[in-house]
Amino acid sequence: MTSNTPQPATFKPSGALSGKISVPGDKSISHRALIFSALAVGKSRITGLLEGEDVLATADALRAMGARIEKKDDVWTVHGVGVGGLMQPDAALEMGNSGTSTRLLMGLIASHAISATFIGDASLTKRPMGRVIEPLSQMGADIRARETSDHKACLPLTVRGICPAIPIEYRLPVASAQVKSAILLASLNTPGITRIIEPVLTRDHSETMLKGFGAQISVTTDADGSRVISLTGEAELQPQKIKVPGDPSSAAFLVVAALIVPGSDILIENVGINPTRSGLFEVLQNMGGDISFKKQRTVGGEPVADIHVKHSPLTGIDVPAHIAPSMIDEFPVLFIAAALASGETTTRGLHELRVKESDRLSQMAKGLELLGVKLTEKDDGLVIEGSGGKPLSGGRAKPVIETALDHRIAMSFAVAGLVTKGGLTIDDIKPVETSFPGFDTLMKQLAS
Ligand code: S3P
Repeated sequence: MTSNTPQPATFKPSGALSGKISVPGDKSISHRALIFSALAVGKSRITGLLEGEDVLATADALRAMGARIEKKDDVWTVHGVGVGGLMQPDAALEMGNSGTSTRLLMGLIASHAISATFIGDASLTKRPMGRVIEPLSQMGADIRARETSDHKACLPLTVRGICPAIPIEYRLPVASAQVKSAILLASLNTPGITRIIEPVLTRDHSETMLKGFGAQISVTTDADGSRVISLTGEAELQPQKIKVPGDPSSAAFLVVAALIVPGSDILIENVGINPTRSGLFEVLQNMGGDISFKKQRTVGGEPVADIHVKHSPLTGIDVPAHIAPSMIDEFPVLFIAAALASGETTTRGLHELRVKESDRLSQMAKGLELLGVKLTEKDDGLVIEGSGGKPLSGGRAKPVIETALDHRIAMSFAVAGLVTKGGLTIDDIKPVETSFPGFDTLMKQLAS
């Protein structure tokens, strides 16, 4: 982990963005590739793995529980211990900023006869863990968490796993792929069939990858349209060769940058376009964005394409709540696009944004207001009045944006900096390392 000293960074108007680039590997798929490989019997190979701090936290935790994980040239090799083969870690697991590492690994440990304590940074320590504690406790795990003054269960927490755990049928009360994946991971070492009922579809990388690893998993639809995922436990996973595609959530920043900087024309190669993740692209197209998908193909069960984006005048729209789960990480950068569009953009159904790496509705509202953007912050969304393409500027000559240890707030305002009158400073660029190492360099490369 890097030091805690904030590292401010300034982003100024640039010329048109142009060129052919690629973005680092998908964060969600990278976590899962490491975890499932660690549970297979034998040696898996991963290329394109995201080497961001969040994913490295997952790798370190798996090593601490007995998996051998090595990197040579561009290939990561994971020597799996087999389902049920994890060992007791000697020390607390340091999760840094990563909610995904924490929630997925809690599930993994829940059905092993080991215990582990999870710790993290100031942002992660505020995030609610009750959503995973509840189903994992039903499966028999004993989880003790710090209770906040408003009765939220948060880090630090200790999971004491149980073997054998009890298979459950669980209806997800929040649309969360992390909760779904935590239960799936716990069910791998649990006898019998565990069923998860998912009323609202969330990213399905765990289901796709588990099939690839040879788990007995099926997905059906019940009478009310909910997805029902059934996994037969005491699974034996076969080692795999995995190619991780570029992260659409990282490409999102470059897509919006190209749309709002006049004259831009860029191609982002090898990006995942799984429909459970690609809501932002659809919304931006509906706003008038010139975005096209070239060379569409399937890599390791995941749809992938090269994304061609040209600068476009955008028009504000009403973003329907049902699209939120397929772009849940992309709202911060959508708000930047909305701030440059003509007319009003309305978003709703976004309560979950308040419990991400920061309260993203309030952080984005604060930053945009500093840039002179007119908006209303509702309980579950923002209503933004766009500038119609005019550069943003607040009362201050050099606004400083507070990023609250949130990589996506930092990158969203870095993009906004390209269309300000005199530039802006974000108070800390370091959190970007959690998901998008090389972001700053790539932005400069596109602008040169
Ligand atoms: C993720 C799921 C989402 C997303 C996060 C990654 C995953 O979180 O915001 O960045 O890899 O499963 P929720 O499950 O809390 O919606």
